[in-house]
Amino acid sequence: MPTPIILDCDPGHDDAIAILLALASPELDLVGITTVAGNTTVDKTTVNALRVLAVAGRPDVPVAAGADRPLVRELHVAEHIHGVSGLDGPEVPEAASEPVPGHAVEAMAGWLAAAARPVTLVPTGPLTNIALLLERHPQVRPSIERIVLMGGSIGLGNVTPSAEFNIWVDPDAAAAVFGSGLDVTMVGLDVTHHTLLSVDDSEVLRASGSVGRFVAELTDFFRARYARIYGDPIAPIHDAAAVAHVIDPTIIKTRRLNVEVETASPLTVGRTVVDLMGVSGRSDNAWVGVTVEGRRFSELLVDRLTGLDGHAGSASGL
Ligand code: BDR
Ligand code: CA
Repeated sequence: MPTPIILDCDPGHDDAIAILLALASPELDLVGITTVAGNTTVDKTTVNALRVLAVAGRPDVPVAAGADRPLVRELHVAEHIHGVSGLDGPEVPEAASEPVPGHAVEAMAGWLAAAARPVTLVPTGPLTNIALLLERHPQVRPSIERIVLMGGSIGLGNVTPSAEFNIWVDPDAAAAVFGSGLDVTMVGLDVTHHTLLSVDDSEVLRASGSVGRFVAELTDFFRARYARIYGDPIAPIHDAAAVAHVIDPTIIKTRRLNVEVETASPLTVGRTVVDLMGVSGRSDNAWVGVTVEGRRFSELLVDRLTGLDGHAGSASGL
């Protein structure tokens, strides 16, 4: 039986690829997509999610628009990485569907209440929607199998020297999620800086059909931005790593550890403080990705995305 998941995302190049990986994987049942402000504003992340579904020929997947700003802070977006649209680079077809009515938090609560079995939440943007869901609808907790999130880092940050973008944008929401007592897995930069698509992988995808070409063009843009911003022409597909972990838990090795989120210090706000050495005396509260077989990740991604083209070509209009 496929694992039911809800993708809570802010597309975003790697979010788009995460959506496509979920659609292409028979191990998963994508119940719905919720969007949040992060890489760009929520109006754009919502349209981008709908457009990615159009690329895949899957406008039937419900999309609900969520929080337009962090819980208590002002929004910072990542247009320096993802461009003004949030999905700059490829020509993206128009959306073939509309968002469902109502806020993403209410949609998630409804999907969870209706689910035949507990659902895995896969947040790949700031954790605002998830924190709001847990605060407003505590009754849905038994319907959450676990939370597998992309965010955080044991080591270096990517938006400040200390912090990873998704956690830094809404550290208060992240603190609520790590402190929720739910089964939380953190797939952070320590892992996702090894979950790459190489130039050769992109060429295989480009030659495979319309979905593959779309993904290759996303990675072309991503690689150029990483070269410009970080001086390294790589395409880390951060968000797809969280989806891949749900598909095949053997690719990423995790450890049970304590993770706390810094919400106060101006220097280190948004840092995930991971007690790797067990020195804090605090209780374990999360599974943390510590190592990854990067090549197995890329092979899974290329294999699944080239397979998706079979039924997507006509609907995508690309
Ligand atoms: C995360 O930040 C966003 O820019 C990406 O989509 C990913 O979710 C990586 O730090
Ligand atoms: Ca993201």
